[in-house]
Amino acid sequence: MSDTPAATLRILPQGWAAPVQPGQSLLEAAQTAGIRLARSCRNGTCRACRCLLLEGTVRYRIDWPGLSADEKADGWVLPCVALAAGDVAIDAPFAQASSTPP
Ligand code: FES
Repeated sequence: MSDTPAATLRILPQGWAAPVQPGQSLLEAAQTAGIRLARSCRNGTCRACRCLLLEGTVRYRIDWPGLSADEKADGWVLPCVALAAGDVAIDAPFAQASSTPP
């Protein structure tokens, strides 16, 4: 589970930041920080969470069916199953703060 380093997730355009623990998905990291991202299945199939990766690199434990190779090449990621390989930033204009964001 902890095959990725501790990192920081930035959510733009709001400019919010959330710590990402090793092995934690970007969606889980945002939720822990009180930031609500679009999501539904949480297992990489529905695409409800799909957003653009603006900075950094993500990894997946398997090739998720929710993204085509072309979409991955264009920078689309699935935060519910994406692990940060280092500090990352995503474009999530509809993210909401469920508590005071960091
Ligand atoms: S919540 Fe369904 S693919 Fe991420």
